Amino acid sequence: MQTVNIGLFGFGVVGEGIYHVLQQKPQLGVRIQRIVIKHPEKNRNAPSVLFSTDANTILQDADIALVVELIDDADAAFDIALHALRSGKSVISANKKMIAAHLPILVETARAHEVSFLYEAAVCGSVPVIRNLEEYFDNDLITHITGIVNGSTNFILTHMHKKSIPYSTALQQAQEKGYAESNPALDVEGWDAANKIRIACVHAFGAYVDAKCILVKGITAISDFDIQYAKEKGYVIKLIATCSVDADGVLTEISVLPTFIPRYHPLRLTNDAFNGILIGGQLTDEQFLYGKGAGRYPTASAVLSDISAYTYQYRYAYKKGIQKVHEVRDVKATCYIRFQPQSAPDFSQIGEVHEYYRTAKAHVVIVTGSLQAIVSACAGNHISLIRFPEPVAAQWKTLESLQEEAVYVS
Ligand code: HSE
Repeated sequence: MQTVNIGLFGFGVVGEGIYHVLQQKPQLGVRIQRIVIKHPEKNRNAPSVLFSTDANTILQDADIALVVELIDDADAAFDIALHALRSGKSVISANKKMIAAHLPILVETARAHEVSFLYEAAVCGSVPVIRNLEEYFDNDLITHITGIVNGSTNFILTHMHKKSIPYSTALQQAQEKGYAESNPALDVEGWDAANKIRIACVHAFGAYVDAKCILVKGITAISDFDIQYAKEKGYVIKLIATCSVDADGVLTEISVLPTFIPRYHPLRLTNDAFNGILIGGQLTDEQFLYGKGAGRYPTASAVLSDISAYTYQYRYAYKKGIQKVHEVRDVKATCYIRFQPQSAPDFSQIGEVHEYYRTAKAHVVIVTGSLQAIVSACAGNHISLIRFPEPVAAQWKTLESLQEEAVYVS
């Protein structure tokens, strides 16, 4: 077996993880030839001879045919990836922000130079979403993808719900466990999930959607009051990323929104830093992918899988194309909105208000209307927006009745 020499950019949580895995598994035949880092003053858990601060020690090394880019800075990551591809090197990246922002040019460059550009780790860590969409779901029958694609926010919401831990403490714990981005605003404001669903949407539907078309609301406004409301109604709150098409294959939604998840729903099982993705199809209803989406070794596992794919010249085929999409149709949705009366929009302009109630602590409306109008009216930290789960409620009722039947039979 021929040894694969790799040049590694970054030695953070994931970079160090992949280094340790390769140390422990020499049988994989992968050797880290050079590691480029930004901060040479930091103590590193690897021989100092491997490290350099000069990107050219990898980019100009003819013995390195594969660059593994695991740095945090999306702009620097883009420069490295583009330069490496143009130098005829294959690239593996986990930088979802960089990939989401620059996918077409990166794919075009990789194709022009006949090299691989792989990024399984960028979407849901260890869960093989991209490769499954590319290989198994490569037909035109997918109707939607929906699920939990950010481990940090799922960890925070799970702990707020189950352990009644305040938001700030739960966020700190997610950071300590290495789940959060170095700028955790990307997690809690929903942008990390938005980048992931934007990438997945290319592989599912061939649609590369403008970032401004993604409806994004994070979890920063979610309070104990909202958690309590969810508990009383038998729901949990999850940050759900969705993209869907109509019967003509036209994109109807791409979004990241806090959502009430009812009992017996598969995503209800997805807790802590786990990710869970439902892939909906015309023939299959839904299939569920579940696993660890963040953290050192789960992410390293996806990088390792890409390294292995590289060894047999695997390349994504993008069978559905990479069509730039600047407009997405709208859907109707029902949402819970908690707001401060002094800064509230006129909800009757947005849709039909079914309920309005106020307590000493909160004002809440339940509104049905255009999802785009609702999300744009509820921007900012002072308004909490949580979507009700109508779109596939019929299926969930079926699950619920099945469960009841099972209890009855037993
Ligand atoms: N911050 C990300 C998350 C890391 O919490 O999911 C994995 O992409």
